[in-house]
Amino acid sequence: MSPFSARRSGSNSKPGASDEPPGVTDDGIIQAVAAHSFLDEERARSLLAIARQLDDEGVAGNFVELGVARGGSAGLLGLAARRSPIPRRVWLFDSFEGLPEPTERDGAEAAAYAGPRRAGGQLLTIERCVGTLDTVRTFLLDALRLPAQTFEFVPGWFQDMLPTFDAPPIALLHIDADWYDSVRLCLDRLYDHVVPAGYVVLDDYGYWEGCRKAFHEFAAERALDVSLVRVGSCQAYTRKGRSPLPPPIDRGVAIRTKVVDALRLFGPERVMFYGAGREFAALCEAGYLDGRSTLGVIDDDPSRWGAERGHDAPLVIAPEAARSLRPAVIVVTASGCWDRIYRQAVELAATMPHRVEVW
Ligand SMILES: C[S@@+](CC[C@H](N)C(=O)[O-])C[C@H]1O[C@@H](n2cnc3c(N)ncnc32)[C@H](O)[C@@H]1O
Repeated sequence: MSPFSARRSGSNSKPGASDEPPGVTDDGIIQAVAAHSFLDEERARSLLAIARQLDDEGVAGNFVELGVARGGSAGLLGLAARRSPIPRRVWLFDSFEGLPEPTERDGAEAAAYAGPRRAGGQLLTIERCVGTLDTVRTFLLDALRLPAQTFEFVPGWFQDMLPTFDAPPIALLHIDADWYDSVRLCLDRLYDHVVPAGYVVLDDYGYWEGCRKAFHEFAAERALDVSLVRVGSCQAYTRKGRSPLPPPIDRGVAIRTKVVDALRLFGPERVMFYGAGREFAALCEAGYLDGRSTLGVIDDDPSRWGAERGHDAPLVIAPEAARSLRPAVIVVTASGCWDRIYRQAVELAATMPHRVEVW
C-alpha cells in the first residue's frame, strides 16, 4: 500500500445492487473492489493480469495475500479465482486491526507515518490501514457474493500465525504488508511454497524502503537470481523459476498471446490491430512485432499517431478505410475503453464483404 494511493470511488458499481454477480469482467472486478482497496487502478489491473496469465498458462496453485486491510485486493483475488478454470482458494492473512509498529529499518518516513514513539517494532497496532475481519467478510461474502469456501481467513500477527502455517502450493503470493519485518517474514516462510512459474507481487516495493530492503536482503541471502518488473511507482513483481514477462499491457486478456497467435495463424498480411498506439508501441518494444509485421492499425483518429513515426511504423488508417485491406482478423489492443473499441471492431467487421474475426 502507499498512503497516497487514493481510494477510488466505486463509481457506478454497487456490489449486490443487481441480480448479476458483481465483477465478472476485468472492469467489473476493478470497479467492484475499488472503494475497499488502497491499490490504485494500475496495480489492481496488474494483479488481475497476473492472475489471468496464470490461468492462461494453466499454472495451478492458490492465491495467498498478506495484508488485507478492508478487503479490496482480496476481493479482486476472490473474483479472479471465481472465474478461473483452475480450482483456487484464497488465503487471507492480516491482524485485522491495522499495521504494527515499524522499526528503524523502515526509515524515517515510516516512523513519521506511525507517529511519535511508535516505531519500536512492537506488535501493537498503529491504527493505520485498519480493516476488521467483519468488514472484510461482509464485503467478500455479502457484497461481492463470493462463496465462503473460496477463502481461508488467518487473523493475527504474521509473526504468530506464519511459523505454524501449513502452506498450500501458491501460484500468486501478494505481499502488501508495508514493513521490513512483515515482508521479510512472508518471504522467508512462503517463497518456497510458490510453485514454479508462480508470481510474487510486492505492493509496496517502490514506496516503503523496508519492503525493498526485505526483498533484496532475502534474495541476496538465498543467492536468488530474480529480476523484478516494476508497475507504476509502487508495485513490483517477480516470477519464480522463469523470467517474468514484460508488464501487462492490456486488461489481462493475454494480448501478447493473441498477437503472436494471430500473426502465426493468419500471417502478418492478414492481421489488423484496432486502437491504442501505446499498446502497439509496447508490443514492438517487447519484441512481439514490429511496424511491418502487420497489415496495419485501425484508429478512429489516425492523425494522433504523429508524423515523426519511423520508417517501420505501421500503416494507420481510419475504420472505413480498413475494409479495402481485407483483414482476416482484427486484434483489439486498446487498454482503455476496451469494451467500446471491441464493439466498434465487431460492427466494422460486420460491414466487411468477407468473414473477419475479432479477437
Ligand atoms: C496496506 S494494507 C493492505 C491493503 C490491501 N491489500 C488493499 O487492497 O487495500 C496493509 C495491511 O497489512 C497488515 N499487516 C502488516 N503487517 C502485518 C503483520 N505483521 N501481521 C498482520 N498484519 C499485518 C495490516 O493490518 C494492513 O491491513
